[in-house]
Amino acid sequence: RVDVDAQGKRIQVSPDLYGVFYEEINHAGDGGLYAEMVQNRSFEENEMSDHMHLENGKVRTDKGWETIWKPKTDLRGWFVVAQGGADVAIALDDTRPLNAQSPHALRVELKQAGARAGFANEGYWGMSVVKGENYHLSFYARSDKKSPVTITLESQDGQTVYARKRVRGVGGPWKRYRCVLTAKDTDPKARLAICLRKPATLWFDMVSLFPENTYKQRIPGMRADLMGKLHELRPKFLRFPGGCVVEGCTLDNRIQWKETIGDIAQRPGHWDLWGYRASDGLGFHEFLQMAEDLDAEVMYVVNVGMSCQARHSETASEQEIVDIYLQDTLDALEYAMGPASSKWGALRVQNGHPEPFKVKYVEIGNENSGADYHRAYRIFYRALKATYPTILTIANQAIPDAPVEIIDEHYYVGPHWFFAHANKYDGYDRTGPKIYVGEYAVNRGVGSGNLMGALSEAAFMLGMERNSDHVIMASYAPLFENVNDREWDVNLIRFNSSRVLGRSSFYVQKMFAEHLPTVMCETAVSNLEAPAPIEPRGRIGLRTWLTDAEFKDLRVTQGDRVLYASAFSQGSADWNSERGTWETQKDAYRQTDPLATDTLTVVGDTSWSDYTLELKAKR
Ligand code: AHR
Repeated sequence: RVDVDAQGKRIQVSPDLYGVFYEEINHAGDGGLYAEMVQNRSFEENEMSDHMHLENGKVRTDKGWETIWKPKTDLRGWFVVAQGGADVAIALDDTRPLNAQSPHALRVELKQAGARAGFANEGYWGMSVVKGENYHLSFYARSDKKSPVTITLESQDGQTVYARKRVRGVGGPWKRYRCVLTAKDTDPKARLAICLRKPATLWFDMVSLFPENTYKQRIPGMRADLMGKLHELRPKFLRFPGGCVVEGCTLDNRIQWKETIGDIAQRPGHWDLWGYRASDGLGFHEFLQMAEDLDAEVMYVVNVGMSCQARHSETASEQEIVDIYLQDTLDALEYAMGPASSKWGALRVQNGHPEPFKVKYVEIGNENSGADYHRAYRIFYRALKATYPTILTIANQAIPDAPVEIIDEHYYVGPHWFFAHANKYDGYDRTGPKIYVGEYAVNRGVGSGNLMGALSEAAFMLGMERNSDHVIMASYAPLFENVNDREWDVNLIRFNSSRVLGRSSFYVQKMFAEHLPTVMCETAVSNLEAPAPIEPRGRIGLRTWLTDAEFKDLRVTQGDRVLYASAFSQGSADWNSERGTWETQKDAYRQTDPLATDTLTVVGDTSWSDYTLELKAKR
């Protein structure tokens, strides 16, 4: 029986409670949401390795950060096509570049034509072409002598051609060429080939291919299927551009919004600290547009003069914070909201958005802390509020002697933590800053995500919703994963070149967003029937939330009867009916065969707090 006290205490639910967190991680944008099909289109990809230890050729040693080698530009995504006795070579070349933002071009030298000769791009783990659909190619080329080129969309082995176009007279000074290819068959792993027909040397740069069928048919644009998934989540806000990418491995490596707007051929891109080069085709303007398309509030996260404190921690001086980092933020806000008569507002108009965008939230820093952060926060808070009094600011933590409107909390934990903290915000001090749970997800003990993780997130979300007069916003993170490059263990939406899938957590997010209440009333649940005690039989799947490391002590009881008790620092328990014992083990979660139902009580001591959890186990 559920009693609802409609006249009693009511809580207004925050209208912005559920939003989305976007970051360029797991090829979320390049090779993902951003519909560009060519990988490394500007030939600026860098050879880099493990982002936690190596950045810009520096490695962390006992003595600090030491330069060991210079990153080398590589030809990722590109390879030679040479059939039937062809003699052709491709190489990176930095003589007479297209522009200063794109210092490298591809030099293609055909000595002997043979049957077929040129170069090809494999896309992001294959290009998805669909029968009957159009694909828009554009590229820049130069050469001393003009020559024709043949463009094909074809299978990875080059044996089946889906579309072919000839472009005559390619050459002379740098010039842009375009054509449209229509696919006559479907292949999720196709490639793009550009072949020369006669011996010649040509230079190519910014080779770009977009499907016509992007979200709202924009070129360049976003993948329609991935944007569709975001619409399903009905986000009330869009947080961008991260995450750690806001901070960068080093300050130089931070995202600089001014380099992410305008003509894609003029965007230098940057080395993304999640291990690959980002084209920045998905830049500041595109994020603002995306929020507008999703009917979501803008939440812009800014660098405060601090690089990622978990990586190569760098802090700017007070003067630099004011002159460079704060100024950059003020300019960004002017670009988004300023009038056409302002310097940056005029650029927004030029880039196709005459009306100002609306920016509701600015987060001052990402995951920054300590005295340096407090100093930077104060500078930012004062200036932002003076210039844009209606913008709501978000802090990474409580700041001594400074007003804080909203605090961003992050939780990447095991399922048991979310179950145990489902009541975390009940009775919270309402006089302090509002709370934004900006990043949360089960990412321990659940492999790449499972139903138990999703259920525990749901339990925690109910607690946020119940207290959403105080917890005013939340966003699951990370959002996207190209299954060919999982940089982070557990992500909400998975995809490859042609397909997209929401994990169980996605459906939890969707369900909560679709049923966002406006007001919460007090309820009482009673008359629950206690299940009859049953002797444990079969294997019980307790595993997933009894994860390693956090557990120091575990007791499993049925009524007064202790079924299992152990003091151990690692492991978890399974009931083994054949042996009649509870067993601890460290391997991954195993699904168990449910035979009957019983209620067990599990008591554990985690590194955060003691808790008691009622588990209805099927066995
Ligand atoms: O979501 C992945 C990362 O987790 C984010 O970049 C960072 O803010 C957090 O540590």
